[in-house]
Amino acid sequence: MKPYKPKNLPLTDIDTGQLIRMIGPANAAIARYDGLLQSVVNPSVMLSPLTQREAVLSSRIEGTQATVDEVLGYDAGVEFDPAKQGDIQEIVNYRKALSLASEALEQGPIDLQLIKQMHSVLMNSVRGQRKEPGRFRADQNWIGSADSTIETAKFVPPSPRRLPGLLEEFANYMAGDDIDTLVQCAIVHAQFEILHPFKDGNGRIGRLLIPLFLFQKKALASPMFYLSEYLEGNRESYYQGLRNISDKGDWTGWIAFFLEALKHQAVENTNRVKGILSLYDDMKSRVTEITHSQHSPAILDALFDKPIFQSTDFVDRSNIPNSTAKTAIKKLRDAQVLTAVREASGNRPAVLAFRELVNLAEGRSVF
Ligand SMILES: Nc1ncnc2c1ncn2[C@@H]1O[C@H](COP(=O)(O)OP(=O)(O)OP(=O)(O)O)[C@@H](O)[C@H]1O
Ligand SMILES: [Mg+2]
Repeated sequence: MKPYKPKNLPLTDIDTGQLIRMIGPANAAIARYDGLLQSVVNPSVMLSPLTQREAVLSSRIEGTQATVDEVLGYDAGVEFDPAKQGDIQEIVNYRKALSLASEALEQGPIDLQLIKQMHSVLMNSVRGQRKEPGRFRADQNWIGSADSTIETAKFVPPSPRRLPGLLEEFANYMAGDDIDTLVQCAIVHAQFEILHPFKDGNGRIGRLLIPLFLFQKKALASPMFYLSEYLEGNRESYYQGLRNISDKGDWTGWIAFFLEALKHQAVENTNRVKGILSLYDDMKSRVTEITHSQHSPAILDALFDKPIFQSTDFVDRSNIPNSTAKTAIKKLRDAQVLTAVREASGNRPAVLAFRELVNLAEGRSVF
């Protein structure tokens, strides 16, 4: 199989007639989600469960097996076996890459430098070292089963010789405007996958670009919109859609798939955000009732900020008198708002979980 020669961007032959009836509803769904997002006072804290979930699901597409509660447990110092720890490390890196890029976007648009930086953060682990972190590839790569050769590959990305020029064009395309931001976002993700500029991690970097791009184009008030749940749930169609671009030149089909994904996931994400906000509201009165403390707002914020934590860390972090924090923890445990992930033993403090928020983040009952 020969290296693929991608079409130049912007594309000139998409069937907008076919897409037009999907563009409106997808934009409407995103706008509704964004309206809700704008009403969230401290989105990076309040919505961090969504970010955790995205990091987990995006990494799961490739087969990284760890759950939100394991990642949060790891943050709180729970120990895992080396294989699991490797998986968790990749998810932690994903989260770091997203937060680094979100901060960078406050300064200026996404460029190739930032993409390389994100990659070096994502690949910063024992496993990632062989994957040339932060460097665009100088070799030919291909997509296929583990034992495939370039001859039997499903897809052979562009030759390394042509890659720099194509990346330049890709960056210019992101910086400019196309007929519709969501359509452009679909093209950005797919073109990135087609270029496959890194040795590994292309899927994850390409999925990270989605919320970043929507934020840069002001379709979102903050770079928090996650599509991996849909892409993971529809993995076969996701891969097939990408493959049809190079096999059949079917960009329109891909864009249609992506618009449907955005619309569907905007509704899911809206419900998740509403779930978190309503839990917060609920907990306001419950924490006061349970703790009878004037410090309950600070206690509540500390729980949302870090829903799995070491008891000693909570005492340090919540910014309230030690004895108050300790009593509050005990009362919240008695009321079963907090569950022990690990009991205290010797000089190791207990690790506790704010059950309901973790379950929301996980999308199922873990505690
Ligand atoms: N036929 C195809 N053409 C272009 N891109 C494809 C095709 N099939 C899959 N992809 C993309 O390639 C990604 C996998 O590439 P790579 O292994 O470099 O990324 P990753 O982040 O390590 O893995 P993953 O996305 O599976 O987690 C897929 O997630 C998908 O986005
Ligand atoms: Mg991979």
